[in-house]
Amino acid sequence: MAAKRAQWGSKLGFILAAAGSAVGLGNVWKFPYVTGQNGGGAFVLLYLLAIVLVGLPIMMGEILIGRMAQKSTVSAFRSLAPKSAWPLVGWLGVIAGMIILSYYSVVAGWSLHYIYLSLSGAIGGADPEAVKELFGGLYVDTTANLGWHAVFMVVTAVIVIGGVQQGVERAATFLMPALFLMMTAMLVYAMTLPGFGEAVDFIFGVRFDQVTGATVLEALGQSFFTLSLGMGAMLTYGSYLSKQDDLVTSALSISALDTAVALMASLVLFPITFSYGIDPADGPGLVFQNMPAAFAQLPGGALWSTAFFLLLSFAALTSSISLLEVVAAYFIDERGWTRRQAVIVLGAFIFVLGVPSALSGGSQAFGAGFKDLTAPVFAIVGKEGMNWFDTFDYIASNMLLPLGGLGIALFSAWRMGERARRAEIAAGSTLGKIEALYLAWLQLLRYLVPLAIVTVMLYALGIFKLLGLI
Ligand code: TRP
Repeated sequence: MAAKRAQWGSKLGFILAAAGSAVGLGNVWKFPYVTGQNGGGAFVLLYLLAIVLVGLPIMMGEILIGRMAQKSTVSAFRSLAPKSAWPLVGWLGVIAGMIILSYYSVVAGWSLHYIYLSLSGAIGGADPEAVKELFGGLYVDTTANLGWHAVFMVVTAVIVIGGVQQGVERAATFLMPALFLMMTAMLVYAMTLPGFGEAVDFIFGVRFDQVTGATVLEALGQSFFTLSLGMGAMLTYGSYLSKQDDLVTSALSISALDTAVALMASLVLFPITFSYGIDPADGPGLVFQNMPAAFAQLPGGALWSTAFFLLLSFAALTSSISLLEVVAAYFIDERGWTRRQAVIVLGAFIFVLGVPSALSGGSQAFGAGFKDLTAPVFAIVGKEGMNWFDTFDYIASNMLLPLGGLGIALFSAWRMGERARRAEIAAGSTLGKIEALYLAWLQLLRYLVPLAIVTVMLYALGIFKLLGLI
């Protein structure tokens, strides 16, 4: 006899776990630097619009599919649409999950390394220029990259082995409040810095002259990635949600928490960078180079630095937990593996899959050599060659996730029966019973969302550039 399917202990537990999935490197690392590169306020405004008009409708659709089927990705599509090609959307998610986790874990490993550096006194009070150089050293350090990647995967696996309530939910219930607390402390501190006013003006001062078509598409793409949409993470978490719990307010809370953390992260990072004369448009190095350099000059810098990278690691951990859960749940639901078996085998597999990413800085084959190898392929879409790490990120973020999101939107808005969809949204939800809201959601999901996803994909694939439109 099949064991009873796992469920969240409470609705709050679900919201924290799902918000944990959403809040990740995308919020603390990517959002601030993309905002910096796109001129600040106008980008933030577009991003907020994208969250409400595109992200939120897909999130509701994803949770809805999972809760309706009470199954993880592939099985959910199979049971709701038997003998069809829809389970492919689930498959796409499982594959995307493995790919994303394999390199996500490497970046999370860098964050662990910076906790170690902060504690060992290499950052607080050190020469800022030397601190900036630390990243270059880490990037090519094969042993450190592999070691931290392994540590991070093991921690993720141990939590996922614990199961839905005792592992995933319990970890989120501790990690998310801890993250908020540290973020709030850092925000209060950032408010006392001379650069705070300038930062607020940068983040919230809307200057429309800086908006281009590319800004709009960047904002859309970011809203999608940051909410963990398109690969069945929200679907799988939704499958552990009880029919008595409100799906609509849950999706609203998850999106609000995710947005709050992204804005808070910017309000922490920019005052610090402005106070130390760093250019906000500096790009991906913001978190691992400029922030440590600023911490080096801050009174009590070692402490702030430790707290910051601990916060970043927590954010990454709750996301990686959801990535592994999606992949493991497939083998548990569909192949009858035990949870322990699934997590150990897949965790090991994903670790191996991540080795080339961990070596992308230090090895010729996966770094510069791989770049040369892929150059002809990327040249087709007007891009330079990429190393293994960037290639994986590119494929996952620009192709697999949008395709999965498109599938989820089309399935929930067009394929699913009207009566079943209505009943599922309304179950346990007051908002879900309001006709005007239901119709607005459905129309967005039917028309605007697919259009937005296809446009972002074409943009990311360089098609607009190819046609000379951007
Ligand atoms: N949302 C995560 C972040 O902001 C990254 C992410 C994208 C993700 N898709 C995911 C995490 C799917 C878990 C599952 O960093």
